[in-house]
Amino acid sequence: MIEARGLTKRYGGKTAVDHADFTVLPGRVTGFLGPNGAGKSTTMRMVLGLDRPTAGQVTVNGRPYRSLAAPLREVGALLDAKAVHGGRSARNHLLVLAKSNGIPKRRVDEMLDLVGLRSVAKKPFRGFSLGMGQRLGIAAALLGDPGVLMFDEPVNGLDPEGILWIRTLMRGLAREGRTVFVSSHLMSEMALTADHLVVIGRGRILADTGTREFIDANATSHVLVRSPQLAELARHLTARGHRVEGDPAGGLRVTGVPAADIGDIAADNGLRLHELATVQPSLEEAFMRLTGDTVEYHAATPQPSPPQTPPAQDPPTLPQAPPQDPPTLPQGPPPAPPQAPPPSPVPVSDAGGTPTPPDGVPITPQNGPTQTTGNPGWGLT
Ligand SMILES: Nc1ncnc2c1ncn2[C@@H]1O[C@H](COP(=O)(O)OP(=O)(O)OP(=O)(O)O)[C@@H](O)[C@H]1O
Ligand SMILES: [Mg+2]
Repeated sequence: MIEARGLTKRYGGKTAVDHADFTVLPGRVTGFLGPNGAGKSTTMRMVLGLDRPTAGQVTVNGRPYRSLAAPLREVGALLDAKAVHGGRSARNHLLVLAKSNGIPKRRVDEMLDLVGLRSVAKKPFRGFSLGMGQRLGIAAALLGDPGVLMFDEPVNGLDPEGILWIRTLMRGLAREGRTVFVSSHLMSEMALTADHLVVIGRGRILADTGTREFIDANATSHVLVRSPQLAELARHLTARGHRVEGDPAGGLRVTGVPAADIGDIAADNGLRLHELATVQPSLEEAFMRLTGDTVEYHAATPQPSPPQTPPAQDPPTLPQAPPQDPPTLPQGPPPAPPQAPPPSPVPVSDAGGTPTPPDGVPITPQNGPTQTTGNPGWGLT
């Protein structure tokens, strides 16, 4: 178990970790998520005693890391896969670690087999690729057969087989009753691997909750509709106060109304449907909503280049919902707080597929989806 209480780290004027309280429990994989610079690696370094907290404390199995007599037997970690002497072979690197913690030599060869590095065990580390380095780091973490494992972005550089392997490995380690704490920016991978999430933004813990609960609390499902009579269908939906927007891949996204109701509305009005599908929200969407306003390092958004040829015909226009008829979504989400970035409106054509040229009238969202930034009612500290 890893426990952080009031854990704080300041570097000069920069607060990297800000009064973090969380507990990483055994028997499950806990994902540690946060934008670049959010404080994940700093937190992990403090767990391992590599950085001294400015305030607060963090313990492993109830004790500070520095007080552990044979730390590799209690907690194994991969923080920086490149932190290996370049002239040392993979096997010698593991032998040194094993010797320092009273771990038998045979364990080194077992771990080299486990991570698939046996054939290059005697090669100097400087010739290793990024993925080979990650595998060696994982071997080092597992060397002492510890009950607590911590990995900082372990799938970086791994090939697809390696990613599947580490997902299976982590889930297996958790099933054995170990504590597994893993950071990653790969949301789809985390959705498959982590049972529980700790989310950090600008040094503060934003969420500490189950993965499913996190997604449900921070994103909503929608219905994707494709039809050759899309504009007309959109008119009927907005007239009933349903929230409608263009889907980036073509078609309509309808929020807050079941697919069956949309099918009925289409049938009642003699409109043909080519697709009607409920789309579940992803961890990526939920993460972006919760952490959107804590992102410090934004990339510039490329400007779309103007179309080379003019559109062949005038684009169809799509109506807005009447202003006097606000959407009534009894089971729908509450209005979003101002910091929630709404999805970009996407122009919609009536051909059911290709978005209209830029002068088409987009359907704009009228109501933001659920998100809990700032005042969520679950698991926040
Ligand atoms: N040794 C240091 N000296 C000064 N500032 C530091 C130091 N280490 C980290 N920081 C700062 O602390 C903040 C948190 O950094 P950290 O590396 O913990 O983020 P992270 O969540 O791991 O990000 P990433 O996803 O990019 O790996 C950043 O603003 C970083 O610049
Ligand atoms: Mg980091």
